[in-house]
Amino acid sequence: MTHQDAQQEIQRLTTLIQKHNVLYYQQGQPEISDYAFDQLLEKLAKLENQFPTLRLPDSPTQKVGEATTKNFVSVNHRYPMLSLSNTYSEAEISSFAQRLQKSLPGAVMEFFCELKFDGIAISLLYQDGALVRVATRGDGEKGDDITQNAQTITTLPRRIKAKGIPKEFEVRGEVLMTRPHFEELNATRLMRGETVLANPRNTTAGTLKMIDPSLVAQRLLDFYPYALSTEDKILTTHEEGIHLLEQWGFHTSPTYKKCHNIEEVMAYISYWEQNKHTLPIDIDGIVIKVNNLQQQDQLGHTAKSPRWAIAYKYQPEHVATTLESVGYQVGRTGAVTPVAYLKPVLLAGTTVKRASLYNAQEIARLDLHLADTVFIEKGGDIIPKVTAVEVQKRKPGSKPIIFPSQCPDCNTTLVQEEAIHYCPNAKACPPQLTGRIKHFVHRKAMHIDSIGSRTIDLLFEEGLIHTPADLYRLRYQDIYPLEGFKEVASKNLLRGIAASKQVPFTNVLFALGIRHVGKTVAEKLAHHFQHIDALRQATVEEIAEAPTVGEKIAHSIVTYFQDEENLKLIETLREAGLQLCITKAQEPTVSQRLTGKTLVVSGTFQRLTRAALQTQIRKNGGRLLTAISKNVDYFVVGKKAGATKLARAQELKIPVLSEEEIITMIGL
Ligand code: IVH
Repeated sequence: MTHQDAQQEIQRLTTLIQKHNVLYYQQGQPEISDYAFDQLLEKLAKLENQFPTLRLPDSPTQKVGEATTKNFVSVNHRYPMLSLSNTYSEAEISSFAQRLQKSLPGAVMEFFCELKFDGIAISLLYQDGALVRVATRGDGEKGDDITQNAQTITTLPRRIKAKGIPKEFEVRGEVLMTRPHFEELNATRLMRGETVLANPRNTTAGTLKMIDPSLVAQRLLDFYPYALSTEDKILTTHEEGIHLLEQWGFHTSPTYKKCHNIEEVMAYISYWEQNKHTLPIDIDGIVIKVNNLQQQDQLGHTAKSPRWAIAYKYQPEHVATTLESVGYQVGRTGAVTPVAYLKPVLLAGTTVKRASLYNAQEIARLDLHLADTVFIEKGGDIIPKVTAVEVQKRKPGSKPIIFPSQCPDCNTTLVQEEAIHYCPNAKACPPQLTGRIKHFVHRKAMHIDSIGSRTIDLLFEEGLIHTPADLYRLRYQDIYPLEGFKEVASKNLLRGIAASKQVPFTNVLFALGIRHVGKTVAEKLAHHFQHIDALRQATVEEIAEAPTVGEKIAHSIVTYFQDEENLKLIETLREAGLQLCITKAQEPTVSQRLTGKTLVVSGTFQRLTRAALQTQIRKNGGRLLTAISKNVDYFVVGKKAGATKLARAQELKIPVLSEEEIITMIGL
């Protein structure tokens, strides 16, 4: 390669890598795999070594990825947070061991092997046993102060009470979201018609940068430490540090192993390559560290990474197969989801025939054509997805995949909202009708186990059910003649339906399937309004006052209650005897101080959030309403309380309480 060619190529690679760094670290939206990224970086490093004078001052080979973001205070790290040198080949692990031997001739060496957790690196600073600061890695020199958000992670000790702890020490490790939590989060988002999140790592990155710590708390993040550093000379090996962290209450992964030679290291690598799917978290390789801290010191580090450690990265699991067709599924909300039907192929232990394509944008991004050779990827037990198309293999004249403009089930013209296409025929589109009933009986909703998805389809085809309310009208003689239903099954089905009448109001509210009202929102709304009629009469502004409920959700609720058919459905459910209000048994009380009293709360508060104040009122026996009427005993006002409400309260001579007064009254 000529000098000029090299210069051009270095420029191109540098810009490209910088672009992918921004996508990965700042936007949490990587466009290429880690493997492809590492290949680019390696190519650039090789060229720079060949032509050292051409290395650009801001070369990504000299820096640790991420830059800090605007919303957080930037803080300097005590010691730089370095990166690890990576390899994908076992031969390089052997050369790593040889390099170590050469640098420390004759030294007996132990290797401490750990999983390479695929999360977000953070540093925790403790002083006198208290967690005082948490920062992201940032550019390695300085990161973002995310103390408030990190404090919501329950497996991260906020105070350590142990004998002989150093006055000051730092713990480094990885924040993660476990696969089960991630799957649940995505399931909820899908149910609300929101876009799915790509993977736990990006979700963790996005979560840590959220502005509101209470939202971070809901995401249930986890923390795995992998390093303890302190000026006090209390450790001689890395292993001792990990054991101390365990004793101090950190949640370490029990997967680490001390190895005495490189053969044991290789066995560890291949063990976890085979067994990584059994873990609840994602890993992207393993890390090998020299165990002895004195040896670590002697080996030192380069500008970017320590010489005493190396990461062995696993190749991502992907395979190529053929796209046979694309199908479109209509959900209960009318959202149309494309699914790729594939030539069956073995991937990570299972045969894959289908993969998710999410939405029309995704089809366009992939520029998908029929019979394309596609790459599919899978991590853990998630639904496989199409990651790329091998365009070179495309046969001339092959047809591009075009997202339909009509509903595949009822032919209605689709409408688009953000990335999602919807069928607006909510009243008559069959999969939407059955979808709503399937949602209604779901375990997290009315929990009617005796009816499965196929039974609902059957009952619908027979014209026996159209809406969830029809379930409560079913009679023995309707079910008995159906295929596969004899006496026992029919009775069982009816028993399940009857039992659901006792299911609490929060479940019923969720079961209604109001757009954007997921399980958590339903819980908050149920407790805030207590009764379906209070929610039905509330305005957008009043609904948006409920905790975690925004304008979008509030609008969707008001729209729901404006629909005659929905009101009819609720009336039928009421007649059937379903729980449409919070009963006393569902509300734990701590005192009776407000028993029999009705209160309205408005404005923002200093000592508590409004939601917390409302919870306290309920816990002490008080009943909450949203509108001022003569039935209200107290009007509790914070800053910026509603002026109309205040005027009305004064008119009706309702006592007005300040924050301090209500707090004293409850005895907080
Ligand atoms: S030790 C000097 N141990 O990998 C670097 N890192 O590419 C010390 N990581 O920033 C890092 N699991 O975010 C270490 N068991 C482990 C790790 C681990 C994941 C991440 C960490 C680090 C990155 C380096």
